[in-house]
Amino acid sequence: MSIPFLEVFDDPGDLSERAAALFTESALEAVEKQGVFRVALAGGSTPLFAYRLLAEEPWVSVVPWKKTHIFFGDERCVPESHVIRNDLAAREALLSIAPIPPGNIHPIEADKPGAELKYEKVIREVFQLPHGVPRFDLILLGIGADGHTASLFARVPGKERDESGGDLVLLVTDSPKPPARRITLSLAVFNAAHRAVFMATGPEKREAVTRAVAGDPAIPAGRVRPVSGSLVFLLDRPAAEEIAREVTR
Ligand code: 6PG
Repeated sequence: MSIPFLEVFDDPGDLSERAAALFTESALEAVEKQGVFRVALAGGSTPLFAYRLLAEEPWVSVVPWKKTHIFFGDERCVPESHVIRNDLAAREALLSIAPIPPGNIHPIEADKPGAELKYEKVIREVFQLPHGVPRFDLILLGIGADGHTASLFARVPGKERDESGGDLVLLVTDSPKPPARRITLSLAVFNAAHRAVFMATGPEKREAVTRAVAGDPAIPAGRVRPVSGSLVFLLDRPAAEEIAREVTR
């Protein structure tokens, strides 16, 4: 079970630089080892500056983009041109700039029926894995103030989460963070990863980050523990304050 490794930054810009460096390191390592790099990008706003950095020097000419396959940790069930789509934000920041073969970008067709089953099929095809759980080389994750990650949300007591789908990809229809309908990779996929990296900034994430680092199973982010991979938290000081207090007690 992975022990979380924390890196705390005074400047969120340095956090994004570190995320870009870890992405590049993971890509070079994966391509060296297996000839391909398969990564799932986080949604939300926190990772966007890191994506922009990857589209520029020194990173853009170092990452082996031709051997990189881009997936998404989750997607909102809105039309593909909708401004809140995670893949649209990633395209604007990185994917439309870096020299990635278009066929290596695997968006979740979240506005279409059965998208969760279709995405599971795409993942299995790219990983050439008809059964079992694929081992992503890198999964980038955000965390919500309520402890959600990707579109995995904590169960409300007495109310089962409405999640359906396969082993790898789920349809969520009652997300407390709008929109209600989302498609998300499953916890099994996150915990099979070679490396999972959370990025979190701001005091509003402090409690969720503290619980996630502690492995609190009551929140989805606390249940991300790659079985035979590494777990990294990239945090700014406000998000890490409670942990820093505990550690220095
Ligand atoms: C989503 C994201 C979600 C996000 C967190 C943090 O689609 O909403 O996948 O899990 O990562 O809510 O979002 P911010 O980075 O914007 O705070």
